[in-house]
Amino acid sequence: MVVHISETVLGLTGLLAIAVLLLPVARRLNFPYTVLLAAVGCIFGLALEVSQSLPGFIGDFLQAVERMEITAETVLFIFLPALVFESALAIDVRRLMDDIAPILMLAVLGLLISAAIVGFSMHWMTGAGLVVCLLLGAIVSATDPVAVVAIFKDLGAPKRLGILVEGESLFNDATAIVLFTILAGMLTSGEEVGVLQGIWQFLLVFLGGVLVGYIMARLLCLVLPKLGDVPLVKVTLTISLAYLSFVVAEHYLHVSGVMATVSAALVMGSVGRTSISPETWHSLSETWEVIGFWANSLIFILVGVVVPSLLAEAGWQELVWLLVLIGAAFAARALIIYGIVPMFSRLRLAANVSLAYRSVMFWGGLRGAVSLALALAVLENPKFPAEVQNFVAMMVTGFVLFTLFVNAPTMPMLMSLLGLDKLSIADEAIRNRVMALSLTHIRNKLAKAAAGQNVSADLTDEALAVYDRRLQSAEQGMEDLQGIDREEWVRVGLTALLGRERKLVMNHYATGVTSPNVTRQRLGHIENVLDGVKAHGIEGYQRSVRRNLSFPRQFKLALLLQRRFGHVRYLARLLADRFEFLAAAKMVVGQLQEHSLPQMAPILGKEASDGLTELLEQRAQMIDEAVDSLHRQYPEYARTLEKRYLERVALRLESKDFDTMLADSVISQEVYNRLSDSLGDRRTALDQRPRLDLGLEPERLVSKVPFFADLGEERICQIVRLLKPSLCLPDEAVIEKGDDGHAMYFISSGSAAVELGEQRILLGSGDFFGEMALIDHAPRKATVRAVGFCELLVLYVNDFNRLLQENPDIKSAIEAVAEQRR
Ligand code: CMP
Repeated sequence: MVVHISETVLGLTGLLAIAVLLLPVARRLNFPYTVLLAAVGCIFGLALEVSQSLPGFIGDFLQAVERMEITAETVLFIFLPALVFESALAIDVRRLMDDIAPILMLAVLGLLISAAIVGFSMHWMTGAGLVVCLLLGAIVSATDPVAVVAIFKDLGAPKRLGILVEGESLFNDATAIVLFTILAGMLTSGEEVGVLQGIWQFLLVFLGGVLVGYIMARLLCLVLPKLGDVPLVKVTLTISLAYLSFVVAEHYLHVSGVMATVSAALVMGSVGRTSISPETWHSLSETWEVIGFWANSLIFILVGVVVPSLLAEAGWQELVWLLVLIGAAFAARALIIYGIVPMFSRLRLAANVSLAYRSVMFWGGLRGAVSLALALAVLENPKFPAEVQNFVAMMVTGFVLFTLFVNAPTMPMLMSLLGLDKLSIADEAIRNRVMALSLTHIRNKLAKAAAGQNVSADLTDEALAVYDRRLQSAEQGMEDLQGIDREEWVRVGLTALLGRERKLVMNHYATGVTSPNVTRQRLGHIENVLDGVKAHGIEGYQRSVRRNLSFPRQFKLALLLQRRFGHVRYLARLLADRFEFLAAAKMVVGQLQEHSLPQMAPILGKEASDGLTELLEQRAQMIDEAVDSLHRQYPEYARTLEKRYLERVALRLESKDFDTMLADSVISQEVYNRLSDSLGDRRTALDQRPRLDLGLEPERLVSKVPFFADLGEERICQIVRLLKPSLCLPDEAVIEKGDDGHAMYFISSGSAAVELGEQRILLGSGDFFGEMALIDHAPRKATVRAVGFCELLVLYVNDFNRLLQENPDIKSAIEAVAEQRR
């Protein structure tokens, strides 16, 4: 049969038009969109069965739809990458990682258990072959999130619930396809695969897919920043990524294509997000939203179209089998969700998932495109006997329809029964306050407008009375919520402020104030603080803020590299990052104090906003202290950065000015282009971050220690060779009491504190410490800690012995000080 391209175009675009027109209908009827699509698709399918030869356009259209012949490959290679990439791209990767244990458990272990339970019960009840039934089990266990997630969005369900459900179905699609491939291979080739071999094969395919997607996406992230700011290029490349990762994995490397696409999307959504400008990200997510929407709309309607032909030969016996299948599949899901998930939480392998959430997950495990695609794959494969094909096709179709038409429409009811669609008390309180404020505002404006236009008094009163009544009821609502204490309000305020902070951080990135690296670090910090607030309220906030200001773990490695191998580049880079990070943090807190908090104050009430003011002040002070110690150590670099900042602001102002002049037609496009070009060079120069010179050359450090200064050039040269420079971070313990001594230290700049019980003795530039353990061959007498940044010269024990042997004057000077300290 020759299918003309015009027919395909007619069929596809016609269906798409019908599909999207159903969206407003679904909204009006308050009915899940995807379910409506499937229903209309079914009606189409029926129409195709009965009316073969309608004349004219309608007949052509129906024929075109019929000839489109949706195959398993179409679904798997055209629709699935788009669907999977879109939903994985939109997922909050950090939140997903928080719950990765229960998600993977549900997606992998849960799917295997479910496939086994369904398989054995169907085998037992219907007498069909065990492998066929297990295959059926694998197919019907792949959940599809689309319909449920849409319902969650409409009802404003908690975010974590959405992530659990969406994460599960992203990963279990892959599991189902892998299991399906193994079982189908067994059935068609007749070869048995042992359990261990099966598990090995499964892991290989699953993890192989993850790796392929990860590598491809990371490569793209490396390339993206070098491509200039052309959103079209970047957006298109992500579309290629979605499909290429799928095809490379599935077709060439024979690993899981779904996992490749999922992991590629997750990398793009986390690392990739900071490799491109926020505007490009915005157009990227909008484009993907459209692609996802089209794919979803088409797939559900097409799935509906094939249903009637798949069910054409179903009889009473099949109906009974279907009931058994439904029973087994739901029993398996109940066992996993009510039995195994809580067990994992109890063993502390996964975070706790509440009973209400679990009930939604149980009932919301809908099946969709992937299950039907796999059933189609069975139908299309001539190696399967006809009765197996029919059996699988009918059972899967029946089951998918059941979840779509029974579970999906009843989900909103279940959610409201469990109270998951309600706002939290604090959110409700906020809503009431916002409403009251806005009503007061509108009422006053309305009164003024009426007075200005000389509207007659009775009409004005009538209009105002409406607002008065609404205001009264909003205030009444507020009174009902008096029970919320100050701490709760502060907590709400903190969450809102952190949301604001996230925006500001992205803004800094967009205007080039912070680099991608530091932006990522700061976004991660915000998430940590949010978690802190959620788990321990105000105290959690303070703790996480403090932790974020401490030196990150990478410094350990950097210091080790510097001290052991004299490698300073990494340490210098981290310190330059810290400069950037602290400057940006200071700016953000300032903006929060100045703008965001005053805006929120009327909503949160005086007491809570006073609390927030205090918290922000504390934070600003901590940042100032950290900034001060860094600036004291590297004043030159601080000045260079300040200069660079000013230049950047100037550049932005200039460029804005040019934009305005162009918009007002003061200058022509040509002149504008010339002016912009001149800015471009300056911008490129500014984008390079200046290098931080740590100045850790031994000669320089030795010259600052008076102890050595009087020794004469030749001896200094000799000594310099023995001394190793080292930078210490504020509060770092250079020596721990009780340790063995391997070296002594001369302070070149900064200061260190000797901690002797309650007493703290401050040593400054030129002083030394750590000599006693070397002289006495005894453990360290005290802990010595750097106060602020501190540059030291380290003399290791062998060099110490040599130095003292060759320089009796130094020996007696050091011993004299040690004697004094005893
Ligand atoms: P050591 O015992 O090797 O390690 C701890 C160091 O603290 C010690 O050497 C001295 O250098 C220093 N220290 C101990 N006691 C005093 C003190 N009273 N005044 C100054 N420094 C001291």
